[in-house]
Amino acid sequence: MIEVIRTAADMTSAMVRWTKENKSTGFVPTMGALHEGHISLVQASLRENDITILSVFVNPTQFNNPSDLEKYPRNLDKDLDLLNKLGDVVVFAPEIQEIYPDGTNLIQRIDLGFLEQTMEGRHRPGHFQGVVQVVQRLLCIVPASKLYMGQKDFQQFTIIRHMLYVWKSKIQLVICPIIREENGLAMSSRNERLSSEARYKAGEIFQILQWIKKHIQHNSTDNLLNEARKMLDDRSLSPEYLEIVDCTTLHPIKNIKEGLCAVVCIAVWVDGVRLIDNVILYGKLTPA
Ligand code: PAJ
Repeated sequence: MIEVIRTAADMTSAMVRWTKENKSTGFVPTMGALHEGHISLVQASLRENDITILSVFVNPTQFNNPSDLEKYPRNLDKDLDLLNKLGDVVVFAPEIQEIYPDGTNLIQRIDLGFLEQTMEGRHRPGHFQGVVQVVQRLLCIVPASKLYMGQKDFQQFTIIRHMLYVWKSKIQLVICPIIREENGLAMSSRNERLSSEARYKAGEIFQILQWIKKHIQHNSTDNLLNEARKMLDDRSLSPEYLEIVDCTTLHPIKNIKEGLCAVVCIAVWVDGVRLIDNVILYGKLTPA
């Protein structure tokens, strides 16, 4: 069964009740337009907790492009139908005043250092400030025992993992693998805006990332990235960035023996839609 909670006050009192009853709680923050990627996070939480809470909130402060915010798909009824099939989920769907009672302009800058100066952060100024701000506000209202996030947004969970450490939070971060469409395209709410031809073309992104993984042991990262850029170019895919970085610090890796875990991250424009993806090349992610 689905229970929808609309206000921060109601959500907080439900959390207090569950804590008193010693119930374990899992929290899945989303911006709605749910797809199988989100569903996999919910399923992981349902398996591991007594109570699963999913938030649906299109956070205006993380959109640096107003038209992206405007075009972001919103359909709560469809989301609720999808969740209904999964089991007991509490949906927190607040209005903007519940999350930003003092307005969205009063944002205080948080020092994220290099973590927000690279890749997504470099191309979407202020984006991660907005993400951290909203996750912090959501976690004040929903201080769950476990927080579920997707590997799909690699830099996002890396920054949230860092913030949980800085906040000395007891919340355990669970990182869930990327769910893909049949052709390898990472599922995303933005895929809805792709034509079927563009969707097909976008499947090539994952193939190229896998090609890098296959050849990582016998090549320099510079060579691999140059080859991959040529392959993208041949397919008229123009990457905003393509980088091989350390999984924790996000510093570029030149020599594959550096660091314990490396990931290749990409952002590509496909027919006016910005897509991101990543593949771990070696090593394991460290949880929070
Ligand atoms: P949203 O894009 O809705 O994503 C919600 C969560 O679903 C994120 O943790 C994201 O990494 C995960 N996710 C998205 N696509 C996925 C896929 N194909 N496979 C696995 N997981 C996937 O990310 C956000 O919302 C927002 O920035 C948010 C954290 C809610 C803050 O506003």
